[in-house]
Amino acid sequence: MTATQPRTNGLGTNGKYNPEDYDNFALTGPGTLAGDYLRSFWQPVYHSDDLPVGRAKPIKIMNQEYTLYRGTTGEPNLVDFRCAHRGMQLSPGWVEGNTIRCFYHGWVYDGTGQCVEQPAESQPFCDKISIGGYPCRDYLGLVFAYLGEGEPPEFPRYPDFEQFEGLFEIDSYPRGCNYFLNLENGGDLAHVGFVHRGMEGSFDGFTERLDIQAEESEWGVKVISRREGTDVSRTAHYGMPNTCHITALPNDTSTAPFREFLAWWVPVDDESHIQFTVYAVRVAPADAERYAEMRDVRLSNRSVPKEVLAQAVLEGRMRLEDVVPDTTDMVRLQDDIAQIGQGTPNRRNDRLGRSDATVIQRRRLWRRELQAFAEGKPLTNWVYDPEKQKAEGGF
Ligand code: FES
Ligand SMILES: [Fe+2]
Repeated sequence: MTATQPRTNGLGTNGKYNPEDYDNFALTGPGTLAGDYLRSFWQPVYHSDDLPVGRAKPIKIMNQEYTLYRGTTGEPNLVDFRCAHRGMQLSPGWVEGNTIRCFYHGWVYDGTGQCVEQPAESQPFCDKISIGGYPCRDYLGLVFAYLGEGEPPEFPRYPDFEQFEGLFEIDSYPRGCNYFLNLENGGDLAHVGFVHRGMEGSFDGFTERLDIQAEESEWGVKVISRREGTDVSRTAHYGMPNTCHITALPNDTSTAPFREFLAWWVPVDDESHIQFTVYAVRVAPADAERYAEMRDVRLSNRSVPKEVLAQAVLEGRMRLEDVVPDTTDMVRLQDDIAQIGQGTPNRRNDRLGRSDATVIQRRRLWRRELQAFAEGKPLTNWVYDPEKQKAEGGF
């Protein structure tokens, strides 16, 4: 358990934590309760392969902009978005060694945000100048960063993914809605039988009802879903605060019947987020080439962005049934429609039933942890234990 200081901001106008206020979960800008809570965990912020050596990228996470760059030593670095001199955005500048030089007048910052050079100044005052610098590292194909205050917590490891010897796919996507809607959808197994009906690996939500049991686990919430009237059940694990480890709908059952994945729902701002995803594809070595070929064909056929279609469906200009299959990512389009279609993330009026067991459990844990966080009380130390998860029949 770790303790935090009592909070004095982000608590609403009366300065008190209101556990019923869904905004506590949804709003993640600096100084908000959920934002500071999420910042107390390591979060993925970028694909490692999309950050070549010597390049800098502007990124936005939880309503805050940053400069992410990979030094010539190969290490990722994360510093504030703007130069301290006169506010120039740093990403168009030059990466030199493990530092970044501002495009405007050449000030140089190291990965901690310390200014180390002011070439236009006859009397440099670098030692008095610093911007924010944030610990970051590559792991499982993603750049993870610690955006909180003070010393970062121990880096969370996923040993089963580290040791996995099959095919890894790093396959993230943006979605134009609040991250918490996707976080809740991730544990909402009943939606699969409606939103994704007809897709490979799905089921018929009308004739095959699920009995869903959700309980607290060492990592967050463990969910057991059983097809009513059968012994067919499946276990999935949702990690606090914004992670899951689950078996995905397969892309192609002939070569790879299972894709295990880790996912993180990370806010960009309050109206959009990225699901960072690491897939471990259990494809037999003999099928690996065919799997890759089929994936390339599938991706090259996708000519219409899911966002455009989702908007057209939500505005009533077309129906999902009118979408030509294979021209877009159908599963993500379906989820775009369902989640963006929920509107604002104010869920105060939701009428939850038994099939919402996972949603109820996750909200309960979030409320409890945020309450403790607001009061500076010890927080739960969540533990990822793949051996235990496997023994419980998750995968
Ligand atoms: S604004 Fe960056 S060096 Fe002047
Ligand atoms: Fe879905």
